Amino acid sequence: MTSAHNRVAVLHGVNFDILERRDPSVYGGLSLHQLEARIGRWAHELGLEAIFFQTNAEGEFCEYLHRAPELADAVLLNAGAWTHYSRAIADALAVAALPSVEVHLSDVEAREDWRRVSVFDGLVLAKVSGKGPDGYREALSVLAAELGTGA
Ligand code: DQA
Repeated sequence: MTSAHNRVAVLHGVNFDILERRDPSVYGGLSLHQLEARIGRWAHELGLEAIFFQTNAEGEFCEYLHRAPELADAVLLNAGAWTHYSRAIADALAVAALPSVEVHLSDVEAREDWRRVSVFDGLVLAKVSGKGPDGYREALSVLAAELGTGA
């Protein structure tokens, strides 16, 4: 095997570029840059390499997923509000056919009813929600176990 088989594409969707401006009582007040720095550190501890992507354009998110099998061995995604209605992104994730975990900073089960619905049901190994940034560490652990890396 030539590649390390440890690359995780960490995808953030709509409104994550302004994460620090969103309600801190719900999202914690971190910027995306700060969140990605933590994710990168945790990934490294688990023997993973994180590759980051964020867009506010649904089509670009789909196009990134089209390329994902060439770029990464697994996917960690927080698609934001698209999670609850974008069948296009769900279809693109299915085509990528990589081990995937869905993460939400907030507890989507305990908020409005529409946030309980996820288009990724049945496509992801796990859904981690309501644990703030630490949820990403949990998601990375699931992917590390799946890929058989480090810790
Ligand atoms: C979110 C939850 C979604 O319902 C919301 O639309 C977001 C962020 C989260 O991380 O808690 O944009 O995905």
